[in-house]
Formats: sequence, structure tokens, C-alpha cells
Amino acid sequence: MQSHLTQQKKITILGSTGSIGRSALEVIRSFPEYFQVVGLSAYSNIDLLKKQIREFKPQYIAVFDTKHIQDLQHEFKNLTIYSGKEGLKQISSIKVDIVLCAIVGAVGLEPLLTAIESQNDIALANKEPLVMAGRLITQKANAHSVKLIPVDSEHSAIFQCLIGQDINTVEKIYLTASGGPFYNKSIKELEEVTPQEAIKHPTWSMGKKISVDSATLMNKGLEIIEAIWLFGLTEDKVDVVIHPQSIIHGLVEFSDGNMLAHLGPTDMKLPILFSFTYPERVFRPLKRINIKELSNLSFDYPDENKFPCLKLARTVAKKGGLQPTVLNASNEVAVQSFCEGKIRFTDIYRIVEKTLEENSYTNCNDCNLEIILSIDQEVRKKSIEIIKKLTSR
Ligand SMILES: NC(=O)c1ccc[n+]([C@@H]2O[C@H](COP(=O)([O-])OP(=O)(O)OC[C@H]3O[C@@H](n4cnc5c(N)ncnc54)[C@H](OP(=O)(O)O)[C@@H]3O)[C@@H](O)[C@H]2O)c1
Repeated sequence: MQSHLTQQKKITILGSTGSIGRSALEVIRSFPEYFQVVGLSAYSNIDLLKKQIREFKPQYIAVFDTKHIQDLQHEFKNLTIYSGKEGLKQISSIKVDIVLCAIVGAVGLEPLLTAIESQNDIALANKEPLVMAGRLITQKANAHSVKLIPVDSEHSAIFQCLIGQDINTVEKIYLTASGGPFYNKSIKELEEVTPQEAIKHPTWSMGKKISVDSATLMNKGLEIIEAIWLFGLTEDKVDVVIHPQSIIHGLVEFSDGNMLAHLGPTDMKLPILFSFTYPERVFRPLKRINIKELSNLSFDYPDENKFPCLKLARTVAKKGGLQPTVLNASNEVAVQSFCEGKIRFTDIYRIVEKTLEENSYTNCNDCNLEIILSIDQEVRKKSIEIIKKLTSR
């Protein structure tokens, strides 16, 4: 078989037990000649982590709870085991070719920054850090000449359409959205949907938090902010279209009227593979699109009255400053409360909106990590108070 990658790449996966982490290991399993696993991190799923260690033989792992160390060290004598928040930073600082950031939520911010400071290129799935601290992350990546390669399918699509293009000629980019499991429900019906229904996405199989974000369309809002930072665009140049088939993942419209679209199977392994091989490509596909599936592709503008989280995120993207930090923190708290059955699906919007009203920080041109983390913590407390008030009525 023809081999194209010029060197085997060393990879660390933060969040190897999650949906993206598991897909990434499937990619590595399919191309063992190209990739070598150096580090893995997990939070609660230690049984799966053990299986992954047996198969992929990393040199380093990071777990959250120190109670697992003894047992792990007993079975894996030569493994270096880190733990806690510090452990995530330690594993991110090990020199590799790529760190895949696939932890969910703001907790991924510090390890991401450490990986960048250690001059590791980043395959970025974990979008929340970019939403809460986009300026800090992109400035640091530039300062350390580190590549931020998107894994999110829409951003991977746009990234691929932009290769060889002048960003100044981009008129607009379009991120596609399937619409999620509730797109055809009425506003009244949305009041009653359950967490179990929300995590059943029609076209993608994903972790809990992003599934709920996809159902509220907050995910697309977070993706608008993600795109602004990844591609250096202003908010008015990023649009969202509903495309239920999830075949086209992103489109770029140029100043001369030409438009490029990226098509791909509904499988995160493809953008993950590309993020690992970029700027090269492998010669063997994981999957291909059946051209006959392309006969009925449809597009529509999203209904922002029914899904107000998208409108809210767009407003926040326009305001900038620390507003995205507030949006992200309150959304994480609200989604968790919804998953725990404490609030209704439609309360997610109400809580994020109220938290934003009460925390109108805007200016953040020189915000450092400490400021961002303290605002994140403060906002989480405020959102919890808002939830308590709402549920005690
Ligand atoms: N899933 C997708 O298709 C998809 C697509 C595009 C972007 N993304 C983004 O990629 C990220 C991961 O999504 P996912 O769907 O893979 O999530 P997931 O299935 O929930 O996996 C999350 C991973 O993070 C770990 N983790 C959770 N809390 C942690 C903590 N406090 N400290 C350290 N590690 C922690 C989990 O460990 P345990 O499992 O061991 O508890 C797991 O490995 C998210 O930011 C999401 O928005 C996902």
C-alpha cells in the first residue's frame, strides 16, 4: 500500500474515554503505521481507560482521582501516572506531535494552554475553552507557533475549504446544523422534553453535554464563537443553516461569488483523521459518501424564536469581551441541571439569559487566565443561585 505520511506522529489524547476520544483511538487502530499513542487521560471511566492502556500502550496517563493510582500502577508497572488538575497539565506538557483536546467543558482550558506553551500542535474538539478564552488561546498559539487544527466537523470543513485561500476574500462562512432531535417540535412541546430524549441526536452519536447543546442549538452558537477565533472572522461573516442530512458540514462564500462546500460522512473519525494528518492526507478512506445520497440535500434558516439560545449566543459573539465566558459558564451549569432533572429544557435559555443580564462584563482585551477563571467561577455560582430561585417557586 502506498504510504504518504512522512513520519509517524506521536499523539496524546485528553479525554480518551469520551465520544471523541474513543473515535480517535479507532482512527489510530485503523492506521497503526502512522500514529503512536503517548498519553491518555480519563476522568471517571477507569475500566475503559485500562482497556485502552492494554491496547495502545501509552507511556503516560492522567486520571482525576488519586485513589486509582495504586491499582493502575500495580497492573502497569512502567506507566507514568499523573493525577488531579495538575496531572492534566503535566501530561499536556509532554512533547508530542499533536495533543487532541477532547475533554468536555471549561476544565479543558488549562491543559490546552499548557499544551500550547509546550509547543504541541493542537487537534481541537473541546470548544468551550475557545468560547471562554478565545483571545488568550489564539494569542498564545501564535506566540508559540502552534497550529490549532479544528476537529469539530463544521470547522474542519471550513478549515479544509480555506486551504490556499486568502482570508480577506471570505464574504461569509456557513456552519451547517442538523437541527437536533427537537427541530420539528412546537415551543409548547419543548417545555416537556426529557434529558433522555435530548441526548438522542438524529445524525451524530456524541457525549451528553454536546447532545443537549445540539438540541437547544446553543452548540451552533458556541460554534459561531469558535469560528470567529479559529478563522479570525467577525460575527457578521459567520452564518448558520439548517441541513438535516448532515452531509455538507460547512460552506465558504468568497468575494467573487464563488462558493466552496465540504461534504463528508456523518462520522467524527474523518475530521479527527484529518486533524492528525494535516497538512497531509492518507491514501485509504475510513468511509466514503455514497454519491446517490446527495440527491435530496435541503437547507433552511434556523428558527431563532423556537431556539433562542442561538440568537443569544450570536448577540454575545457580537458584544465580545467576557460575555462569551459568561455564556459558556452559565450554559454548562444549566445543561448539567437539566441532565439532573432539576430544570426544564426551556429553562436552559432562561438561566443563561438571566445570568448574562446580571453579568455584563464586556471589555477583555488584556484579560489573563486568572481573570477568566475567576469570572468563570463567579458566574457558575450566580447561575446556581438563579436555578435555586427558579426551582423554589
Ligand atoms: N462528540 C462529538 O461528536 C463532538 C463533536 C464536535 C465537538 N465535540 C466537543 O468535544 C468535546 C468532547 O465531547 P464528547 O462528546 O467526546 O464528550 P464526552 O463523551 O462526554 O467525553 C468527555 C471526556 O472528558 C472527560 N472528562 C469529563 N469531565 C472531566 C473533568 N472534570 N476532568 C477531566 N476530564 C474530564 C471524560 O472522562 P470519563 O469518560 O472518564 O468520565 C471523557 O473522556 C466537547 O467539548 C464537545 O463539544 C464533540
